[in-house]
Amino acid sequence: MEEFKLSLTDRSGNLTEAEIAAEMAVHAGLLERVKKGETEYRESLGWLDVSVWGGEPWISRYESLAREVQAQADVLVVIGIGGSNQAARAVAEAIGEKSGVRLVWAGNSISAYEIGEVIRQIRGKRVYIDVIAKNFETLEPGIGFRALRAFLKEQYGEDYRRHVICTGTEGASLHALCEKHGYTFLPFPQEIGGRFTALSPVGLFPLAAAGMDIRALVQGAQAMRDRLMREEGKENTALRYAAVRNLLYRKGYRMEMLSFFEPRFFRFAKWWMQLFGESEGKDNLGLYPLFGNFSEDLHSIGQFLQEGTPVIFETFLEARRSGASLMLRDDDVEDGFEYLNGKDFDEVNRVACAATMQAHAERFPCLQISVDAMDETAFGQLFYFFFFSCYLSARMLGVNPFNQPGVEAYKVNMFRFLGKTK
Ligand code: PA5
Repeated sequence: MEEFKLSLTDRSGNLTEAEIAAEMAVHAGLLERVKKGETEYRESLGWLDVSVWGGEPWISRYESLAREVQAQADVLVVIGIGGSNQAARAVAEAIGEKSGVRLVWAGNSISAYEIGEVIRQIRGKRVYIDVIAKNFETLEPGIGFRALRAFLKEQYGEDYRRHVICTGTEGASLHALCEKHGYTFLPFPQEIGGRFTALSPVGLFPLAAAGMDIRALVQGAQAMRDRLMREEGKENTALRYAAVRNLLYRKGYRMEMLSFFEPRFFRFAKWWMQLFGESEGKDNLGLYPLFGNFSEDLHSIGQFLQEGTPVIFETFLEARRSGASLMLRDDDVEDGFEYLNGKDFDEVNRVACAATMQAHAERFPCLQISVDAMDETAFGQLFYFFFFSCYLSARMLGVNPFNQPGVEAYKVNMFRFLGKTK
């Protein structure tokens, strides 16, 4: 699968190929265990085999429910937070909806203004909602559902229930609500934690409703899985990525910046940030994941990257074909930009990316991940690549990739302050 490439540019002298090879050799045994899925993480590895939640008959189920939504609605409000909405949002906001159904995002904040804005946007439209929560104790989707339920009841009366789809844990409280009130139910895979659910009903159903080619998404992921399972220790792409990150961490780098020159990668970067932040940031360890939305952010944090505290390295993310073109034409106004006449914005953007990477690589090692295009296949490849690399990288670091005990601390306080008793 040549479309997906990982490369390293480094003129800083801070990392050698010999070090990377040695690090990969040390962890070749771990790679083989990760490929099989380690027994101790068995209950979190439902994503490792794409063909379960991304195979038939599930794909047909997502597609048939998507057709129902497309026939009945203009808008699907996706209510969820963290791993429950970020993957679908990453793809939808990069590619753009292809059916007549627009995805609107709710249940990801507690802001009265934000939820009010959602209601304002969807008023007068035909609306369905998809409430996604593995553990239906999470406050944001819980109260987001309340607000949207009130809206649906006002619009449709008792028939509102036909407009509600829930993706939750089988046998748990959201499932019970579905049975009691007649909402449509999709299972949230028990054996997959939120941030690893892109290729399950959590990510695939809303994307199908928005008209995305979810089969291509799954095929991209499957092709990446086949590649990573096939590649041996010293040539394994995920092991190389994980090895570079862990080596740089041990050399004193504390942050990995996912940098991109295509602003449509913004939501994908948020997804990536959660995946690595929640998976690795524990036991006082881990690289802090942040992102650079270039070229805009070069005018804010570019200075820091080039000359500030040397704790950041970068992974550039690019799609070789953006699918967009806009020529810079000579319009007879001498504005000082004549040297760009006849060039395409897209070409200028790529030159800016190459120039930035060259400048930054003088200071610190720069990785680059390059996919063929901004399409479903590429997102499938990216999701699986980062799932697998994250699992591997967290294990190299010595932490459990699949829990997030630290997230509970603020919740305990919040629930106490709000008077929650059970
Ligand atoms: O990755 C995770 O498990 C978390 O980020 C969850 O996705 C997030 O907290 C939302 O949880 P829930 O689906 O239970 O509402």
